[in-house]
Amino acid sequence: MRIFVTGAGGQIGSDLITTLRERGHEVHGSDLGPRPERLSADVPWHQLDVTDADRVAGVLGEVAPARVFHLAAILSARGEQIPLVTYAVNQTGTYNVLEACRTKGIEQLVFTSTIAVFGPGLPEYAGDDVPLRPTTMYGVTKVAGELLGEYYQRRFGLDFRGVRFPGLISATLPGGGTSDYALFMYVDGVRRGAYEAFCRADSRIPLMYMPDGLRALVELGDAPRAKLRRSIYNIAAFSPTAQQIADSVAGAIEGVRITFAPDPTRQAILDSWPRALDDRNAREDWGWKAAYDLDAMTADLVPRVRELLARTPGALDGHH
Ligand code: SER
Repeated sequence: MRIFVTGAGGQIGSDLITTLRERGHEVHGSDLGPRPERLSADVPWHQLDVTDADRVAGVLGEVAPARVFHLAAILSARGEQIPLVTYAVNQTGTYNVLEACRTKGIEQLVFTSTIAVFGPGLPEYAGDDVPLRPTTMYGVTKVAGELLGEYYQRRFGLDFRGVRFPGLISATLPGGGTSDYALFMYVDGVRRGAYEAFCRADSRIPLMYMPDGLRALVELGDAPRAKLRRSIYNIAAFSPTAQQIADSVAGAIEGVRITFAPDPTRQAILDSWPRALDDRNAREDWGWKAAYDLDAMTADLVPRVRELLARTPGALDGHH
């Protein structure tokens, strides 16, 4: 199948493209910048700004994929620094991609939603159909993206489906997320032997290891539509406290020092999200089940981060 991925230069894109190609698909990537070095040079790549409606329609019309994975977005913490740009990229960008799917006759759009669609006051364990009252621009645009996609499905017959991701952890830098403290415990734990987390030790949000996240996208995309009773699904893996992650990292990296210095803005975002997600609909409808728990992730990820930094010492340089 021919597949198109937007925002493919981000935290999920390279790994998703590699996974899809391993499954025999022809995959085109796109992002504002050039093809990331970690992607094979024969991946067709399109420099594309999703806020440019004409270009989005032009490129999608030309490539004519059967399926689009729409990943392009600015995450929650970065989004609070630049809310208007975040609105343009996340909201207008999603609208442009939906419109291009409609006008170019593209069959299926897979959307990446998030725990950030939830806001304060929910039960600790949140189901799919709780009220969505996010406090961040990122969350607001993701709620709107979910609703707009469902509208395109109802009104225009687009096969729209998506997951609400927990914070994703892998050996790739994300685009300014609030869940990044978990990832940096691993990355800075390996390269510096220490990390000062921007949250309290008792912070607890849903997290997931990237291989599970990739599998969720692939499996949801492939699920027969008739089995799906809804379009957007919570998916879950594990929900440790920040201290529990630090302990797991300490078990794998000798002498590592993880400390906590909460940043008020990011702590407030963390505190506004539910502690855990109820993913029973995903389990029932398309057989979703996470494979990695916290310690299995640690055992797999620490050697990967070590290997990556040994090969390319600057590979994970970037903002915190
Ligand atoms: N990882 C994301 C963030 O922190 C959650 O969707 O913004």
